[in-house]
Amino acid sequence: MTPRPIRFLHRGTVAEAAIDSRAAATCTVMQWLRGDAGCTGTKEGCNEGDCGACMVVVGSLDAKGALRLEPINSCIRFLPTLDGRALFTVEDLAQGGVLHPVQQALVDCHGSQCGFCTPGFVMTMWAMWERHRAAGTMPTRQQVADDLSGNLCRCTGYRPIVDAALRMFDAPATPLDRLPVVAALQRLQADAPLTIDGCFHAPRALDDLAALRAARPEARLLAGSTDIGLWVTKQMRDVGELIALGDVSELQRIEIDDEEIHIGAGASLEAAFAALAHEWPELRDVWLRFASVPIRLAGTIGGNVANGSPIGDVPPLLMALGASLLLRRGTRTRTVPLDDFYLAYLKNRLQPGEFVQAIQVPRRADRAQRLRVYKISKRYDSDISAVCAALAIEVDGSGRVVDVRFAFGGMAATVRRAAHAEAASRHQPWTEATLQASMAALAVDFTPLSDMRASAGYRLQTAQNLLRRFWLATRADAPLAESQLNVWARDAATGASV
Ligand code: FAD
Ligand code: FES
Ligand code: FES
Repeated sequence: MTPRPIRFLHRGTVAEAAIDSRAAATCTVMQWLRGDAGCTGTKEGCNEGDCGACMVVVGSLDAKGALRLEPINSCIRFLPTLDGRALFTVEDLAQGGVLHPVQQALVDCHGSQCGFCTPGFVMTMWAMWERHRAAGTMPTRQQVADDLSGNLCRCTGYRPIVDAALRMFDAPATPLDRLPVVAALQRLQADAPLTIDGCFHAPRALDDLAALRAARPEARLLAGSTDIGLWVTKQMRDVGELIALGDVSELQRIEIDDEEIHIGAGASLEAAFAALAHEWPELRDVWLRFASVPIRLAGTIGGNVANGSPIGDVPPLLMALGASLLLRRGTRTRTVPLDDFYLAYLKNRLQPGEFVQAIQVPRRADRAQRLRVYKISKRYDSDISAVCAALAIEVDGSGRVVDVRFAFGGMAATVRRAAHAEAASRHQPWTEATLQASMAALAVDFTPLSDMRASAGYRLQTAQNLLRRFWLATRADAPLAESQLNVWARDAATGASV
């Protein structure tokens, strides 16, 4: 039986694309737009999710059946993952030759010079415009800058673009008529789940995913494709048969009870960070510095954990928080502390046919826990860590350290805790002498590498200095405020730089 084609809403009609090969399964949205669809307004820049030139907006139904519009990098998004969704591109905005307020504002504010980045900015700004119009809100200048963190411009210096993103709300305009889009997506949901033998499967129920995963242990799980996408676009790898997680809504649930925060592995990084930063506001900085908004909307927390990059930013903070993983194979589940999950470089404890179903994080409750997560990278925005330190201690009434969790990325073949540095602090008074002992013990814990991001000596010294910074911020007498320790410090409530 010929498998059904991918079906998604584009320019008001249902577009169809057949998947007749593995290569077709990893055709990117951008390739389809600029090729088959002849929509060349969407530009190709870096082809790896960094520059935003290829930004489009994907519409999908959220858990309540409302339309969710998200900017995504079309260069690393595989076409089959559009199935059942709506695709909006820069060609869709102007009506009858009249520019959309987003486009008009960019013209009026001189927000475009060579224009190469402009379609990508327009789509990110349109998603922002629609979101604030629907909510009746207005973004601050800082929020605009944060939202645009995934769009690079080489000509304008950004100020006119940020001006335009604020001015675009001035003009009267009619937001997208969502009803027909929602109705069309509801009709598309009646299609059977997409499955093309040997190429691509998109189960919808968690049990179906578990059964498929167990039956096809050699297939590759595809979550947000912000790692896998580059294996195809940059490394030209054949990623084999794919099992996509994006349609398994149960995998995206975030549930909070008295004991723990249960984050489905398919939850977007943006949603996962929002839930964690609500409990630990100290995570705001590393949240905003994780890639960019579109990458955090597409990428999942399970992908970061399972990918297991030694410079992944989420595993250190999850280790500092004492997280464990709920793993599942078929109908069987087991729980593994994240501390024990990584075995060696890009090797973990997952058995054939097993997948990460959820990340479980113990609640903060009334623990006297002190946490800081420091990301050290060359660029402030959208850059990979050279060193990432996630440091947590609990101190009792007498000032003694009763629990300590120091986790580091960028210091070894896997993210891991600093056992010797922890032992030098445990049950000791949290004093400068204890700090000195822990700093010295880090040299026993890690023998970092030198690479293009940092030298071994820089990494070790930085890790030791981050421990000192943590002590200065959490010591009993005269702890220093974040603004005294961090040139980029932001006001925790408003997010504005202090
Ligand atoms: P995918 O790419 O879909 O999959 C990644 C791997 O995880 C694959 O091997 C897949 O099979 C496996 N997998 C996914 N879900 C599961 C599961 N539930 N169970 C078992 N295996 C699973 N990373 C950082 O840490 N910090 C950054 O600042 C950062 N910046 C980035 C910037 C850009 C421009 C890009 C493109 C990437 C960046 N990344 C960064 C890397 C990437 O975004 C993250 O690792 C992301 O969390 C990967 O999640 P994903 O859902 O896209 O995974
Ligand atoms: Fe640069 Fe897609 S082309 S992000
Ligand atoms: Fe030239 Fe932005 S206008 S890259």
